Amino acid sequence: MPEWLNALPKAELHLHLEGSLEPELLFALAERNQIALPWADVETLRAAYAFNNLQEFLDLYYAGANVLRSEQDFYDLTWAYLQRCKAQNVIHVEPFFDPQTHTDRGIPFEVVLRGIQQALRDGEQQLGISHGLILSFLRHLPEEEAFKTLEQAMPFRDAFIGVGLDSSEKGFPPRLFQRVFAKARSEGLHAVAHAGEEGPPEYIWEALDLLKVKRIDHGVRASEDERLMQRLIDEQIPLTVCPLSNIKLCVFEHMGQHNILEMLERGVKVTVNSDDPAYFGGYVGENFAALHQHLGMTEAQAQRLAQNSLDARLA
Ligand code: ADE
Ligand code: ZN
Repeated sequence: MPEWLNALPKAELHLHLEGSLEPELLFALAERNQIALPWADVETLRAAYAFNNLQEFLDLYYAGANVLRSEQDFYDLTWAYLQRCKAQNVIHVEPFFDPQTHTDRGIPFEVVLRGIQQALRDGEQQLGISHGLILSFLRHLPEEEAFKTLEQAMPFRDAFIGVGLDSSEKGFPPRLFQRVFAKARSEGLHAVAHAGEEGPPEYIWEALDLLKVKRIDHGVRASEDERLMQRLIDEQIPLTVCPLSNIKLCVFEHMGQHNILEMLERGVKVTVNSDDPAYFGGYVGENFAALHQHLGMTEAQAQRLAQNSLDARLA
């Protein structure tokens, strides 16, 4: 990666902590927790990271998260991510975590949260990386389950800056989660949501109008709807775009087709993020480098993308 790209101060606004679980740590945690894995070794697991769509990735992502059991495991996961950030001049992070992925396996909410929170605090003190944590609801589960998760979170209200919506997009439109998002907003939490990754532009409209989100996660399919594009530009609604993720999950066939720089040049507030770096082949720095290599992103464009990420912070 060119040094000028690495040196740019940046914020990462779209990162699933569970998606930063590198195969090496996954195997180490499996051993620590005496969990038998279906993969022979790290290389075999890495070789399985070939996906045709979002769901194929999610199946492996949830299987991988099964090795996370103790507070120390969540600490180690988060700390490893923050060290990567430090190396790439990421100075602020607003990561997601999926409580339901863990509470549904019998891991107490507070075990997950305490491990993550302690690492984020250490990251602030020892690495100088500021943060705001976002609790994400799994949209393939009913809204009632999201309500239960929000209830579990409320004793720790100050640990979060907002709520998000992730997992399988198609067939699970934002409108299904209107009530739980209203409740979260009434508690003073910001709202963000994945929309327009695999799902149609209508899902982005719903996220804006019904969930009242402050940012759209992904949002790349907005370019199919000119009226929506104009709204994103007029209202300067940030999109947290994840280029390598979009290629790995076949949202675009190859990086040369990605629309992030076209959106940037039209005045959309796009940002660069890694989504699930352990699975998609790179952290924020590698995502910037891919745009430079395959789309000819200039230094001036990289500076604007990095500035957008700092401007779009919610914490
Ligand atoms: N969970 C983790 N990564 C995701 C993505 N890219 N889209 C939806 N849900 C996710
Ligand atoms: Zn995501």
